[in-house]
Order: sequence, then C-alpha cells, then structure tokens
Amino acid sequence: MNLGAIYFSMEIIHTIGILQPYINECKARQLQVGFVPTMGALHEGHLSLIRQSLKENDITVCSIFVNPTQFNNTNDLANYPRTIASDIQLLEKEGCAVVFIPNENEIYPSVSFKTLSIDLQDLDKNMEGKYRPGHFTGMVTVVKRLFEIVQPHKAYFGKKDYQQLKIIQFMVSYFKLPIQIIACETLREPNGLAMSSRNTRLSAEQRKNAEVIYRALLNAKQNFFTLSITQLKNRITEEINSCKDFKVEYVEIADANSLKPIIDNEKINAMAFVACFAGEVRLIDNIHLS
Ligand code: PAF
Repeated sequence: MNLGAIYFSMEIIHTIGILQPYINECKARQLQVGFVPTMGALHEGHLSLIRQSLKENDITVCSIFVNPTQFNNTNDLANYPRTIASDIQLLEKEGCAVVFIPNENEIYPSVSFKTLSIDLQDLDKNMEGKYRPGHFTGMVTVVKRLFEIVQPHKAYFGKKDYQQLKIIQFMVSYFKLPIQIIACETLREPNGLAMSSRNTRLSAEQRKNAEVIYRALLNAKQNFFTLSITQLKNRITEEINSCKDFKVEYVEIADANSLKPIIDNEKINAMAFVACFAGEVRLIDNIHLS
C-alpha cells in the first residue's frame, strides 16, 4: 500500500483485511473519506456521484458488489449487467482512490450477516417495497455492512432511487452512524430517460421511446394543481402504456418524506413515482410535483 500515491493510481482491493488498514491509515492522517457504493455497470450517473465525492473529500472509495440479497427475481440478478474491466478504467480515469470489489463470502461470511433487523417505519411498504418484496431488506443490509467496512465520512446516493435514499437516511439515523448521506440529482439522457445500468439492456427503439417516462412525469407536474390524484395517476399510466412495448407496473403520488400516498387536499411536498417495463427491462423514475 502506498498512501503517497493515492491521488495517482487507484487501489483495487478485494478483501476487508486489506481495505480496513488502508482506511485506518487515511483516517490517522485526518483524510476525509467519501464513499460511493455501486453494483457496477457504471454510467455517467455513477460518475457524477464519484465527481461530487472527489470534490468534497480527500479520498473516494467506490464499491462494486452485485448484491444477491436485494434481487427478488433470479432472472433480474442473472441479467444484471456486469462490466468490471471498463468500470475499473472509468474509476481510475476519474481519480477514485480505491475500488473495493468483494466477493459474496467477504460481505456475507455467515447467514447472520444476511438480514439486518430494522423496522423501516413503513418507508418500504409502497412502490418498490411492494412490488419487489425483500428488496429493501437486502439493500439496507448490504449498505449497513458496507458502511461498517468502509467507515466513510460521507456517502453518495442518487435521487433516481428515491425510496432507497430515504431508507438509507432512516437507517443511518436509526443506528446513529456518523455518516453524512449526500443526495445527488438524477442524471438524464438527452431525451430525459433517467440514467441506469439497466438502460444498456434496452433496444435502440426502446431507449428512444423511453423518453415517454419523463415526459409523462413532467406533464403530471404541470397539471398537478388542476387534476385529482386519481386523474394524474391515470394520465401517467395511459401516456406510458400508449408507447409500444411499455407497460406500467405502478404509478404512485406520495409524500416526499413519509413516502405515504397523498390525498387530493394535501398537495404539498408531493412526488410522483413510476415503475414500468420496456419489454423485459424494468425502469423507475420520479419527480417532485410541489
Ligand atoms: O443503488 C444501488 O446500486 C444499490 O442498491 C446499492 C446502494 C449499491 C446497494 O447494493
């Protein structure tokens, strides 16, 4: 390990036994550690998190771990894009200090590590939590585990996975972890499609047509105070479903903090959330409405 060279060459670390002394040494030198957990297949959205961390910290650690426990569907896990060689290149080019690429045994040395016991206060009841049973338990378990391993000062998450972000913020305050969670804006393709690792699985036509998702959300925002919640949800659903190959799984309009569905006379701090399929590929997005 050569801490003198941390700004010039990236460390590729696979084990906790090597990562932790590295982090401890950084901390002993009063270096501020930023952390970007990912499942790889990195795109501009991830890189924007890395860049923000690089600006705000002395060293940035990125983890790449496709966490099996947060997939409720074995096909989705099998088809999740894996592009480790190009991920490493991208991270190195950005100036990331460390990429941590553990295997499953490193993260889950025994079953007792596999499920965190935490009452998520209904933050996991709707939307992704409802349609992907077990997803948030797996996600929050691995994020807590990664936080304990990396012990960053700040950790960076995108608002595209807004429900995930709220659950992580809750988990950090529940366990009183000394980590600042930084929420970063969703990055979009020029046609409005929210950037996601899953986008690589779209055909050229699906990718083009996927502009319908953000367009439908923007239309809902424009009409938020003139239409009822039911009308808004129906409009978003119809607009997306009218597109060839696209099928809405859910549309929800919920409070941005509690994530509970809102009613017509409580239109403050509202967000719209959507999950849909483009062929086989599941996409999610959201927008602030008020
Ligand atoms: O958002 C993701 O990529 C994953 O859910 C995360 C936070 C890396 C946990 O596996």
